[in-house]
Amino acid sequence: MNRDDTRDLLIEIDSYVEGLFAPPDPALEAALRRSREAGLPEINVSPNEGKLLQLLAETAGARRILEIGTLGGYSTIHLARALPEGGSLVSLELDERYAGVARENIREAGFVDRVEVRVGDAKTLLARMVEDGEGAFDLTFIDADKGGYPEYLEWALRLSRPGSLILVDNAIRGGSVLDPEDESARATHDFNEALAKDPRLSALVLPLIRERIDGIAIARVLVD
Ligand code: SAH
Ligand code: DHB
Ligand code: MG
Repeated sequence: MNRDDTRDLLIEIDSYVEGLFAPPDPALEAALRRSREAGLPEINVSPNEGKLLQLLAETAGARRILEIGTLGGYSTIHLARALPEGGSLVSLELDERYAGVARENIREAGFVDRVEVRVGDAKTLLARMVEDGEGAFDLTFIDADKGGYPEYLEWALRLSRPGSLILVDNAIRGGSVLDPEDESARATHDFNEALAKDPRLSALVLPLIRERIDGIAIARVLVD
């Protein structure tokens, strides 16, 4: 099979899995519709990746979740669904307008009591969270500007405990990470390498299929 055939097959497999395990869902579809109508970029996680986020959060028994990069709250709703009674999620978003759309989506999905969207540069917001002694978070999902990932990882570690999960989106970028000379994926290429070597974490990058192949890094915090 050539690469194009393989690509088509992978997309068919992704749709097959989605049909079985992440079928159409009114709250999620409404969130995507509102996001589209508001002109937000369509760069949310896929339905299957969303389901994976929910499953990982459930498996981790996460009661406190941190998200970096809210957009319209599509991934946020998946993560919030994993929270038990009394659990909470803080999501950080640079763009005030995106945050407004996310808040509406989160409210309509029924999570207004558990989810807080904070507006600002995540670096500033995270520094304040550490200063204020917020945390520990049981799970952090990093999905904002790719150049900021090394710094987000450091803040996430400071807001974690041993056993916390740190998940990182867009680890494969259509395979462009395979080429260390590809400028568009340089930050991700270097980040993956640093993650693999980091003695504070036990980690893996898992490829995920969507219109193009991407992936998620799953890391377990080993240190205090
Ligand atoms: N997690 C979302 C997608 C996030 S897209 C989902 O899957 O549904 C990335 C988001 O990160 C965008 O909304 C963008 O505005 C935000 N972002 C980019 N730079 C940021 C920064 N410095 N601080 C906080 N958010 C940032
Ligand atoms: C893209 C996808 C993402 O999941 C993201 O966080 C940022 C950009 C993209 O496909 O361009
Ligand atoms: Mg992403």
